[in-house]
Amino acid sequence: MNLSDGFSRKVEYLRLSVTDRCDFRCVYCMGDNPRFLPKHQVLSLEEMAHVCQAFTEMGVTKIRLTGGEPLMRRDVTQLVARLHQLPGLRELSMTTNGSHLTKLAPALKAAGLSRLNISLDTLNPVRFQALTRIGKLERVVAGIDAAIDAGFERIKVNAVILKQRNEDEILALVEFCRGRGLDIAFIEEMPLGQMVERESPRYMSSDDVQRVIEQHYPLTLSNRRTGGPCRYFQMPDSDIHIGFISPHSHNFCHECNRVRVTADGRLLLCLGNENSVDLKQVVREYPDDIGLLQQTITESLQRKPRSHHFDQPDSPQILRFMNATGG
Ligand code: GTP
Ligand code: 5AD
Ligand code: SF4
Repeated sequence: MNLSDGFSRKVEYLRLSVTDRCDFRCVYCMGDNPRFLPKHQVLSLEEMAHVCQAFTEMGVTKIRLTGGEPLMRRDVTQLVARLHQLPGLRELSMTTNGSHLTKLAPALKAAGLSRLNISLDTLNPVRFQALTRIGKLERVVAGIDAAIDAGFERIKVNAVILKQRNEDEILALVEFCRGRGLDIAFIEEMPLGQMVERESPRYMSSDDVQRVIEQHYPLTLSNRRTGGPCRYFQMPDSDIHIGFISPHSHNFCHECNRVRVTADGRLLLCLGNENSVDLKQVVREYPDDIGLLQQTITESLQRKPRSHHFDQPDSPQILRFMNATGG
């Protein structure tokens, strides 16, 4: 069975948020006084596995675990081991802030996780603390090294570049990744949640980031595809790829292949839209009826919007923060 939406886009990629909690408070992701979901509203690992099975039986081949911070969820490695068994799943990956990888990277690898994307926006410890409000840079760098040591391949560092905050570190981040053989993706910030600093866009456009890199390294377009929204370029004399995720300047909605499920079991059809469908209710009321869950998902997909509207002047502000969205 194939899942597709009302615009004939095939849906093969599920981003599952396993928790909305996080040990950081990144300025572009959460308000300064975040409230988290009460535990009883969060899907159990059993329920998450059930939802994932429903999706893989309908043709989803890629699942990425996100958060909040997915490694804050107790026993997440058990979920990884369980999902790894799902027939039809080709890639099981995770996007993490990296701060728990020193402890968990080997167990995640052993449980069958295929890839890791790790967020890192700055190499300056003072700035890191300002951007994450409470994070410690050294823990993340140690986490990245632990992931390399655990044998993860094609690790991708995610960097959100903000004007006047970390725009002067683009090259340093590239060098950091080059030195460790990691790919790096530069992301344009998306306006989610009600933020104080939202008056004017503060994201740096991918073309401007690319120009900075190309003053030092010529980049050639690569045919690498990871099934996500990233456009990849190759560095000269190096295996590493530099990617750009450009929701504003190079809209990728026409080739969207993904949906999200939040930690409280809402199916989010688009990052830039408040529309959601409550799968938790179906899962909890009819735990043995995977067919009903699949029917709900199939029908919901017809409501997937064509595109986000972040850049339309009169578009409504999305009130949901990124940590409640699932990255
Ligand atoms: P790969 O498997 O490496 O391709 O990962 P990915 O880029 O799909 O996932 P990752 O978690 O690394 O996402 C990086 C950034 O891309 C995050 O800020 C995401 O929110 C953003 N992103 C991923 N999917 C979408 C999407 O459907 N729409 C928009 N606007 N942004 C997305
Ligand atoms: N815009 C763009 N990317 C964001 N992330 C978190 N909030 C935002 C936002 N508002 C990124 C993180 C991480 C990924 C899960 O999403 O940096 O790499
Ligand atoms: Fe936590 Fe990631 Fe959000 Fe930062 S961006 S607060 S690390 S979930």
